[in-house]
Amino acid sequence: MASGSVNKLSRFAIVLLFSLSCFSLTSTEAYDVFDPNGNITIKWDIMSWTSDGYVATVSMINYYQYRHIQAPGWTLGWTWAKKEVIWSMLGGQTTEQGDCSKYKANIPHCCKKDPTVVDLLPGAMYNLQAANCCKGGVLSSWAQDPVNAISSFQLTVGASGTTNKTVRLPKNFILKAPGPGYTCGPARIVKPTKFVLPDRRRATQAMMTWNVTCTYSQFLAQKTPTCCVSLSSFYNDTIVNCPTCTCGCRNKGDPQSCIKCD
Ligand SMILES: *[C@@H]1O[C@H](CO)[C@@H](O)[C@H](O)[C@H]1NC(C)=O
Ligand SMILES: *[C@@H]1O[C@H](CO)[C@@H](O)[C@H](O)[C@H]1NC(C)=O
Ligand SMILES: *[C@@H]1O[C@H](CO)[C@@H](O)[C@H](O)[C@H]1NC(C)=O
Ligand SMILES: *[C@@H]1O[C@H](CO)[C@@H](O)[C@H](O)[C@H]1NC(C)=O
Repeated sequence: MASGSVNKLSRFAIVLLFSLSCFSLTSTEAYDVFDPNGNITIKWDIMSWTSDGYVATVSMINYYQYRHIQAPGWTLGWTWAKKEVIWSMLGGQTTEQGDCSKYKANIPHCCKKDPTVVDLLPGAMYNLQAANCCKGGVLSSWAQDPVNAISSFQLTVGASGTTNKTVRLPKNFILKAPGPGYTCGPARIVKPTKFVLPDRRRATQAMMTWNVTCTYSQFLAQKTPTCCVSLSSFYNDTIVNCPTCTCGCRNKGDPQSCIKCD
């Protein structure tokens, strides 16, 4: 049957890909065997400067073709460069407020040096929403549903630089999905994003934009780094019809390094 041979062919292709990866990768390399050109880009657009900081829209765009983030969803963390605080947020929230005791009148949303943000749940109060928010951290993949492959929240940041010369880029971005697996690079200043208005007759632009790129590594996702690749948990069976797990050849001398899974 035609579909049977297609399945055999795709199994063969996957096993081949997989075997190649065993010889060419080290355990720390962030590289997704099945989607080598994919990434999740975090885009930080400063929309306006304020008297003590700025308002930014932070978007996460999943450029992976098939790797989506399922419930309970993503968490995004970073470390502030100075003593920045988050006055308020829309479309997301930090998991902890931290120690805001030095603030008396207005209390910030978060005073932690290393805040962790999560998405709001569907049905969040309207006045707390932002565009592309409130999906409980679920992020579709680009090939499956590009409209839902983006997740955004808005931050009002204080105790920060207030111009593109004095603002400091946050560091050490950590994306969890919700487990490990992603490695994020440093923030890089890029050309300010242009926003085309709905009538398409005018474009506005961000005051300043920086991007962070996060990539997935099968090896990082596993507690014991092995060549044991679980295929079924990340890929829709319809797309990858093959054994649920493939074990292989990493560290040939060390039998422990290959875990048998079903
Ligand atoms: C992330 O993926 C997109 C889409 O494939 C690609 O255009 C972009 O160059 C990638 N970014 C990096 C830093 O690799
Ligand atoms: C900062 O702003 C000035 C104008 O105020 C502009 O000429 C410059 O290109 C900006 N730099 C960055 C990195 O956005
Ligand atoms: C920054 O990210 C945005 C959104 O993914 C993308 O359109 C843009 O090309 C990126 N810029 C650079 C220089 O990678
Ligand atoms: C797998 O993908 C097919 C086609 O895109 C879809 O009809 C099906 O519901 C998906 N299955 C799961 C478990 O997501």
